[in-house]
Amino acid sequence: MRGVVIYESLTGNTAKAARMIADQLTAQGIATTASNVMQVDYQALADADLVVVGTWTDGIVVFGQRPGRGHRLKRMPAISGKKAVVYATYAIDPGKVLDKLVEIVEARGGEVLGGMTIRRDRLEESTTDFVRRIIDVLEPA
Ligand SMILES: Cc1cc2nc3c(=O)[nH]c(=O)nc-3n(C[C@H](O)[C@H](O)[C@H](O)COP(=O)(O)O)c2cc1C
Repeated sequence: MRGVVIYESLTGNTAKAARMIADQLTAQGIATTASNVMQVDYQALADADLVVVGTWTDGIVVFGQRPGRGHRLKRMPAISGKKAVVYATYAIDPGKVLDKLVEIVEARGGEVLGGMTIRRDRLEESTTDFVRRIIDVLEPA
């Protein structure tokens, strides 16, 4: 199985999480690369069975949260029929950012299996937890 992480990042947290997720998935046997949503590796995407989509939370801290620069994600390549999982980094309160991200990824044809919000000061613990959950959902015991 192969994977790709497609991310949108303004200040680097979501990009850093993307690299951690890709490295940990690879270590678990799912060869995964990470690319910015504006520079998607089309060959890697074509070869991928699993697509992880990550973004950051944009809003007024506790109100109106939505995927940051969601217009970029809405234009990501179609991923029809591929399994997908989503994550969003945030500072204080992610609100319903994940639901909105799921909608975007489903509109691109992804079969969304789940998602997680990741606090920006807990990237390491949260990405480890996220990858464990991804493996669990892909390979039910
Ligand atoms: C314009 C702007 C709006 C933000 N709004 C929220 C918010 O409403 N709630 C929240 O928890 N974090 C908010 N944040 C924090 C970011 O979601 C958080 O720092 C995230 O990890 C940034 O990811 P990035 O480094 O990949 O850009 C906001 C950040 C920016 C720049």
